[in-house]
Amino acid sequence: MAHPITAARGTRDLLPEDAPAWNHVEAVARDLSSRYGFERIEIPLFERVELFARGLGESSDAVEKEMFRVSGAKGSDEEAAPWALRPEPTAGIVRAFIEHGMHVRPGPLRLALIGPMFRYDRPQAGRYRQFSQWDVEVIGDTGPAVDAELIEMAHRFYAEVGLTDVVARLNSIGDAECRPRYRDALIAYFGTHEARLSEDSRRRLRVNPLRVLDDKELPADLANDAPRGTDHLCDACREHFDRVQSLLDGLGVRYELDHRLVRGLDYYTRTAFEFYVAGREGQQQALGGGGRYDGLVELLGGLPTPGIGFGLGLDRTVLAMQEQDVMLPARAPLVAVLGVGDDHARRLQVATTLRSAGIAVRPDGSARKLGKQLESAAKAGARWAVIVSDVESVALKDLVSGDQRDVVPIDEVPRAVSE
Ligand code: HAM
Repeated sequence: MAHPITAARGTRDLLPEDAPAWNHVEAVARDLSSRYGFERIEIPLFERVELFARGLGESSDAVEKEMFRVSGAKGSDEEAAPWALRPEPTAGIVRAFIEHGMHVRPGPLRLALIGPMFRYDRPQAGRYRQFSQWDVEVIGDTGPAVDAELIEMAHRFYAEVGLTDVVARLNSIGDAECRPRYRDALIAYFGTHEARLSEDSRRRLRVNPLRVLDDKELPADLANDAPRGTDHLCDACREHFDRVQSLLDGLGVRYELDHRLVRGLDYYTRTAFEFYVAGREGQQQALGGGGRYDGLVELLGGLPTPGIGFGLGLDRTVLAMQEQDVMLPARAPLVAVLGVGDDHARRLQVATTLRSAGIAVRPDGSARKLGKQLESAAKAGARWAVIVSDVESVALKDLVSGDQRDVVPIDEVPRAVSE
């Protein structure tokens, strides 16, 4: 026997038993996208490495350590092509915005997608090499109202999928005017404590000192006493951040300020936020995150245009729902259509009639005894069995109570199974 081939490390199959939770999460995301006025966008699963290097930053983990490289066909000109599977969609969406001249459209643009992302990370619970995000981006809006709107929108998503105790953590990391002062303050502070920093942080200190703050090996006292971004904001950033908070207060959205929240990608300016299940604020446990990226469009070759968005991790959302035993909405009752002998044409006709009436139907195509067919219908989760008899009517069996009505006119079945 040939040896079985297994899935690649850090990837997962979605099996039928997982589907109801995923269907629910994706349905809520799609519904909220349209209720908040977002339009669908799709971008390729792979793009030029340069897009990610420039957009997310050479020193971000996603680029420096986790880039999933793709090459062209063996022997082709593109065998060594510098492409990578997308680690996140924001850079690609901004690339599409510039490439299609979307700045001339009436803005601000509201764009959303749901799909897989790829990071070549060390796999563990909640951290995969292929994972899904619901991503929304607003391009061309300086805020601060939209900042609060997106945080409220993500909050609503977690509530509508059925999670409780999700908190938003919030920070402002300033802009091109005030960030340099903050960087200098961090370099000076951590420079005097360099011996206590991890190897990663020592290497990053001068390139990207903000990232030292979210190093999980950073000693707690060093982290607590570190200079705070919010103490270094220029007047415009200060005012923006105060306004975001008062708007969130007005909406009744729960949030906590977190001066260590700096996000892992370099494009962020001003508002930065992440979502956690309360008490689970450890590294790698963020359910989702996002923020403002007012310099990204220009950095990627477009006209100066502000932007903000979030990416919510759907795998971690589903895991949290399983941990909290979230009740999923009941699905439409399934009807099994059974019959005796070789009456398959009749079974298919009845199945087709019921489907035309909007009923979910699973016909049994076997010649097994009725008892066996009933057994497997119940195992497949059918709520009702329609047993085909003569041309005008069927027998209808309630597979939960066991009650059976022997003669039900076919056009009465849709109403009977919807009761
Ligand atoms: P991010 O924080 O890198 O942001 O990712 C967002 C979410 O994706 C995380 O909070 C987490 O739930 C999920 N996630 C990330 N990596 C993994 C992984 N290896 N396995 C499972 N889940 C993961 C972004 O990607 C930004 N593009 C968000 C954004 C949009 N900012 C502005 N617009």
